[in-house]
Amino acid sequence: MNLVQAIEWAEGHHRRGLYSPIGVGFHWVMAALMIFQLGFGWYLSWLPAGGDKLLGYQTHAEVGLTLMVLGSLRFLWRSQIGGPDNVDENSFSGRASHALQVWFYFSFFALPLSGWVMWSTLPGDLPLSIAGVIPFPNLPFDQLSEQLQFTLMQGAATVHVWIVWITALAIPGHAGAAVLHYVVKRDRVLPSMLDLNGPDQPGVVGSAPDADSGRQPPRA
Ligand code: HEM
Ligand code: HEM
Repeated sequence: MNLVQAIEWAEGHHRRGLYSPIGVGFHWVMAALMIFQLGFGWYLSWLPAGGDKLLGYQTHAEVGLTLMVLGSLRFLWRSQIGGPDNVDENSFSGRASHALQVWFYFSFFALPLSGWVMWSTLPGDLPLSIAGVIPFPNLPFDQLSEQLQFTLMQGAATVHVWIVWITALAIPGHAGAAVLHYVVKRDRVLPSMLDLNGPDQPGVVGSAPDADSGRQPPRA
């Protein structure tokens, strides 16, 4: 399958009110990693200073950098093919959900970047990598004065923790809104992120090949 065919295949899912399996895969893998990062980061902040804490932050940093790479790929994908059209973008809930999604994309980059600044001011020479595989450098902060390193550490920590808190509050709002759509509005917003097949639509690319073999047409 080349890129044009992949886009056509994904848009077939969108026309049926679903995210494509690629969009669904990105969503749930990154959601799980993000929730893990929040829990693990908070756990680490309670550990006493020492080797275990530093090793823990090394893992934390590597998972965070992986999120940034996945976030870049997802952003490229999303900017090329969009998503299904399940909500009225001009309604209050449509605007609120869009604002939260933009925030999440922002956090996929702002958290790793502020974390990278912090990590680069920490003492110790533990190496960094993306997903434990691709080596990733430290910023060259060891050439700066101790005072400047301390200021950078404080500034980046403040940014990191603010974004952590806003994201941690945004996630239940986002997930709760999806569940409300399902329970109250009974629309396709939640199924669009869970259902990899959805109702077949004869003639629409992405429908099962036997879509036109005597099945009922989809409901409007
Ligand atoms: C992308 C997702 C990330 C999330 C969700 C996340 C989350 C967190 C959380 C919850 C904390 C504890 C905050 C607190 O003390 O209250 C934390 C601290 C920290 N994170 Fe991250 N982080 C991410 C990425 C990164 C990356 C990529 C790095 C390094 C390259 C990093 C380095 C750090 C460091 C050094 C601390 C300690 C801050 C301190 O003790 O003041 N983080 N992070
Ligand atoms: C834990 C429960 C979660 C549920 C039930 C959930 C549900 C959903 C649903 C139904 C959509 C489609 C909304 C629409 O098309 O208007 C969506 C989209 C989205 N969600 Fe979640 N979500 C969850 C967690 C997360 C987390 C933890 C993140 C990231 C921090 C996240 C980030 C996004 C983003 C960025 C989109 C936009 C779609 C895209 O660009 O791929 N979600 N979510």
